[in-house]
Amino acid sequence: MHLATCGRDRTSLDGEWHFTPDPYDQFVRIKAWEHLTEDRRGGACTPEHWPTLAVPGSWNAQREDCTYLEGPAVYWRRFACEAKRDRRYFLHFGAANHRARAFVNGVEVGCHEGGFTPFAFEVTDEVRPGDRNTLFVRVNAVRRPEDIPTMQTDWFLFAGLTRSVTLVETPRAFVRNFKFTPRLAPDNSWKAEFRVWVDGAEGGEARVRLPELGVDARVPVAPVADPSPWGREFFGLAEGAATVACKAEAWGLGRPRLYDIEIAFGEDALRDEVGFVEVRTEGQKILVNGEPVFLRGVSLHEEADGKGRTLGEAEVAERFEWIERLGCNFARLAHYPHTEAMVREAARRGIGLWEEVPVYWKIDFSNEKVLANAKGQLRELVQRDWNRPSVLMWSVANETPRLRDGRLGFLSELAALSRALDPSRPVCAALLHNWVRDPLQEVLDVCGINEYSGWYGAHEAEHIAGLAESVPAKPFLISETGAGAPLGNSGRPKDEMWSVEYQEEFYRRKLAALDRVKELSGLTPWILFDFASPMRINKWQNGFNRKGLLSEKGEPKPAHEVVRKFYGEKAAGK
Ligand code: GCU
Repeated sequence: MHLATCGRDRTSLDGEWHFTPDPYDQFVRIKAWEHLTEDRRGGACTPEHWPTLAVPGSWNAQREDCTYLEGPAVYWRRFACEAKRDRRYFLHFGAANHRARAFVNGVEVGCHEGGFTPFAFEVTDEVRPGDRNTLFVRVNAVRRPEDIPTMQTDWFLFAGLTRSVTLVETPRAFVRNFKFTPRLAPDNSWKAEFRVWVDGAEGGEARVRLPELGVDARVPVAPVADPSPWGREFFGLAEGAATVACKAEAWGLGRPRLYDIEIAFGEDALRDEVGFVEVRTEGQKILVNGEPVFLRGVSLHEEADGKGRTLGEAEVAERFEWIERLGCNFARLAHYPHTEAMVREAARRGIGLWEEVPVYWKIDFSNEKVLANAKGQLRELVQRDWNRPSVLMWSVANETPRLRDGRLGFLSELAALSRALDPSRPVCAALLHNWVRDPLQEVLDVCGINEYSGWYGAHEAEHIAGLAESVPAKPFLISETGAGAPLGNSGRPKDEMWSVEYQEEFYRRKLAALDRVKELSGLTPWILFDFASPMRINKWQNGFNRKGLLSEKGEPKPAHEVVRKFYGEKAAGK
């Protein structure tokens, strides 16, 4: 179960950590830390002599000699801890790409797989009072066929401790996580369900308050009787639920309305902010708070020029300026969970989100371990973000080959898990548009269609005309469409691929065709800005995917204006 930390005192361990590539994996194979203290030639040789690397941050983006290093590599630092007897201590990682193993004072405290979701290791028994505690973290991002994502992705790896690391101190019994689920009543009032999970207690009573609304609910908790729907990580937790009726202003697209919430148990409390929003589908419509919406979206990777996959406050704000400048009310955070800061900022700005796990292309769908890995990443994403009003749908896959063995069963299990964890949000996926009814569509609530005619294949307007018939009677949106053009490759005829004129004309034709598909619920063109990709090596791309409406530095290409104008007209109801 996700260790929620919002409003909790935490000690940041961000900063310069000692770091070394360890391609022969000596650290783990021969417990190298036992040798590091004494160099055979008698000199003291500790990791303090290794160069340093900034955490958070990927080693690929920080060291020229590590640009293509996949790992393993080892981080090391000392840290202080009071190690009080009546407290518990956890190491919390925002993300580590891709597999991490941590050792505190020479004792292994945990390992984690999945490069984009948070995890925490309890270190209560390992920490000692003072500032001489040692922390080693071995990170390995060497790609394997059984991984998620697997061997090839159209994005750059950016491996390492890519998001913040903190030391979290809690009472013996504390609020591990909570889930806030608002339901709209016919009179536009709300029924709000609170679920609370307590770690370290067999029973007792949690208290949930929304001060601005005068809500003050008592939530009795008892040991989790049947963790099976939720997974083993619920063992040892106590849970409880309560529902209260209240009148609250709705959170909506373009209308961000948040309320402070406090969840207390004994001396512990989490403090967060929530929004009253309901998302559901009806026929071929997506309804937000009972009203059909058209999602004026855009896709984006999590990347900042020169900073890899580590966004600070400035980069998060900059991406939302770009999203809002384009006229969007929606964004597809492709193809993996982005930093939590993006999801929280979207909630504050009234931008809806499609969030996604990296079940991307040719996954080994017949492997039970791979399914367990996918479920783990989906659980960690949903349990991190299920209280964010900005999340409109959870995506379980992108462009997975329709005929690959085991694929439908695998994705059906992911869809079922998504609904078990969070029944309040639709399940979606981005499908390869290959014009044969994909059985996965029957499993989904919302179908994303990646439609590239005019780029991968000739412009075939009838592709668009038949779009509505190609999906069963449920909502669908264009989850990808786009054309590539490096900024500055201009002055060319508009029928010459890779020119900015071609990209501009592509969008003119595509948006005009899509505007005639009245059943369409939205689109998220591929992509907001150019991004690094080892796949992209022809002379126009030079290591970048150039389908951005903006360059990787945020400079607009002519096609940006075409999309911006289209969204302006859509917003004006034309
Ligand atoms: C695919 C894929 C993207 C990729 C894009 C492209 O649809 O989902 O990850 O970047 O096509 O070809 O640019």
